[in-house]
Amino acid sequence: MRHLIAGNWKMHGTLAGVAAYAAAIKAAPDHADMLICPPFPLIEPFARALAGSGVAVGAQDCHGAAQGAHTGDVHASLLREAGAAYVILGHSERREAHGETNAHVQAKVQAAVAAGLTPIVCVGESQAQRDAGEAAHVVKSQLIHSLPADFTGVVAYEPIWAIGTGLTPTEDDVAAMHGAIRAALIAHLGEAGAMVKILYGGSVKPSNAASLLAVPEVAGALVGGASLKPEDLLAIAAAAPRG
Ligand code: 13P
Repeated sequence: MRHLIAGNWKMHGTLAGVAAYAAAIKAAPDHADMLICPPFPLIEPFARALAGSGVAVGAQDCHGAAQGAHTGDVHASLLREAGAAYVILGHSERREAHGETNAHVQAKVQAAVAAGLTPIVCVGESQAQRDAGEAAHVVKSQLIHSLPADFTGVVAYEPIWAIGTGLTPTEDDVAAMHGAIRAALIAHLGEAGAMVKILYGGSVKPSNAASLLAVPEVAGALVGGASLKPEDLLAIAAAAPRG
């Protein structure tokens, strides 16, 4: 499985910064797939700037309905039209700050797939849940309730306590969780569950990328802070195993 190195810009970036970033990221290594997920207004300019480069563009959210009276929301077909190929769904920052439930995430997944986008569905436990020994149970429950039975797409394991903190789980902990996610995907989706890429996210940077990306069942990274510098995202992609 080719590794996917995805940058989640969150609420950062400007129109003025797109051209220089796109020019730099075009030097992407050819043994890994790369994706930039900027704020909505930057999707179309990024898609234009990266056309033909092999670097894909994605969104950070979409609505669960095809269109309608939903002030402030964006539907998946419009994201596709703007040039997005992927959409991040159910990120913990949206689950927490916008009250997104597993049911909301599942509706968004269905809307995204119907529009031709590849969803990247985020799951992950809090520090308190990990301390209580509930991490695997929480993640499995998020998966089962966020993914429709005919799911196609990508899953990202992002322990909440590792996001933006500089902390990362041990390689053994990542291996154990990714193994548990794979088992849950196969139980929920059947054979198709074996094909789903499982990314790791949470404080991935050039210095820890090689060891995290070499863990079994880690098929890429979802990168926040370090994705804002193209040289750091490129260094993470370069660290992805070949083949
Ligand atoms: P950081 O890489 O900044 O920890 O963010 C991870 C993340 O939330 C990506 O979606």
